[in-house]
Amino acid sequence: MKKVNIESIKLAQQFCVTPPLSEAEIKKALDGCVAQVRKNMAYFQERFPYSATKDLKYPIIDNIEWTDGFWTGLLWLSYEYTKDEAFKELALRNVDSFYHRVEHQIELDHHDLGFLYSLSCVSAYRLTGSEKGKQAALMAADKLITRWHEKGEFLQAWGPFDSKEHYRFIIDCMMNIPLLYWASEISGDMRYRDIASKHFHTSCQYVIREDASAFHTFYMDPETGAPDHGATRQGYRDDSAWARGQAWGIYGIPLNIRYTKDMENIDLYRGMTNYFLNRLPKDHICFWDLIFNDQDDQPRDSSAAAIAVCGMLEMDHLLTDACEEKKIYKGAAQAILRSLIQNYTNPHKEEGSPILLHGVYSWHSGKGVDEGNIWGDYFYMEALMRCFKQWEPYW
Ligand code: GLY
Repeated sequence: MKKVNIESIKLAQQFCVTPPLSEAEIKKALDGCVAQVRKNMAYFQERFPYSATKDLKYPIIDNIEWTDGFWTGLLWLSYEYTKDEAFKELALRNVDSFYHRVEHQIELDHHDLGFLYSLSCVSAYRLTGSEKGKQAALMAADKLITRWHEKGEFLQAWGPFDSKEHYRFIIDCMMNIPLLYWASEISGDMRYRDIASKHFHTSCQYVIREDASAFHTFYMDPETGAPDHGATRQGYRDDSAWARGQAWGIYGIPLNIRYTKDMENIDLYRGMTNYFLNRLPKDHICFWDLIFNDQDDQPRDSSAAAIAVCGMLEMDHLLTDACEEKKIYKGAAQAILRSLIQNYTNPHKEEGSPILLHGVYSWHSGKGVDEGNIWGDYFYMEALMRCFKQWEPYW
């Protein structure tokens, strides 16, 4: 098992005494999410939001992006919270769209099949028994494993499969492999699980550094399959820690443990989470890269904060009271979520508005910088649902 440095948490005392969110705080925040989702249902109808807002309004697109599952996930969360059939009806029409997308292989030549299909179709199956959702998600799992490189033991993130310059994987994929574990459980076919656990192992070995921060992407040698080098695409520098990448690890590790029950990886989780918590600014919401702090004039990434909260809340179920950090992580999750509620939610609920402000999609390309994004909205609401009730993940 990969060994990483585990920093001690600087704000441990503060997080230990952070009061949990009250039921009233949680309900008020969830009601705010649902109010925005209702507005956006009328606005998107059967189409989808673009990944990030432009001037704080989502452009409307077809089901072609890697992010479309987050919108359907928001509909499912809203249905679970309110039991209002209108959310379920639209979510099921979205499932038809996801079925069509995978049946006709529309814009699926990348690894983000888990983001797309866990939240739209696995959820449909879990919540309503939708056979179409189940079939679509199984087809998506089949598509995902076509990106498996036997020699390097990883799922290729982007680009044509036979392209040498694309022979790499990325930390984000930790969140795509739960779809494969699920597919194994449903189909009884262990091939999916085998690939998921090998990919997870390769990621832990190479994309996570010795100091427990993460590279965004990692190249393997296409000739030998041996590890080559780490590099970034969305982080500030190759050797910095892109905040969302770190958060994908903080959430991806417990989701893997949920399926494998392999508690060996807890130290990796502790290392990554402690690294993240030690680099938060005063209001607890990370800058878009963890290299920045309060003295830097840089945008926050509220979506990374929401993802990390979901990871800490997921891990909370897996840690026993013997883990001295359990209480600290719980308090940290509450402190971050409270800051999101109080300082980062959008007070202007118009059609096409985001729920959460101040995210960064891609700083280098100038996409969605200091804007809302649909995964930030989704993970914020998921985090609240996790505080509201014993929530069964769609992942
Ligand atoms: N998975 C792509 C991103 O986090 O921007």
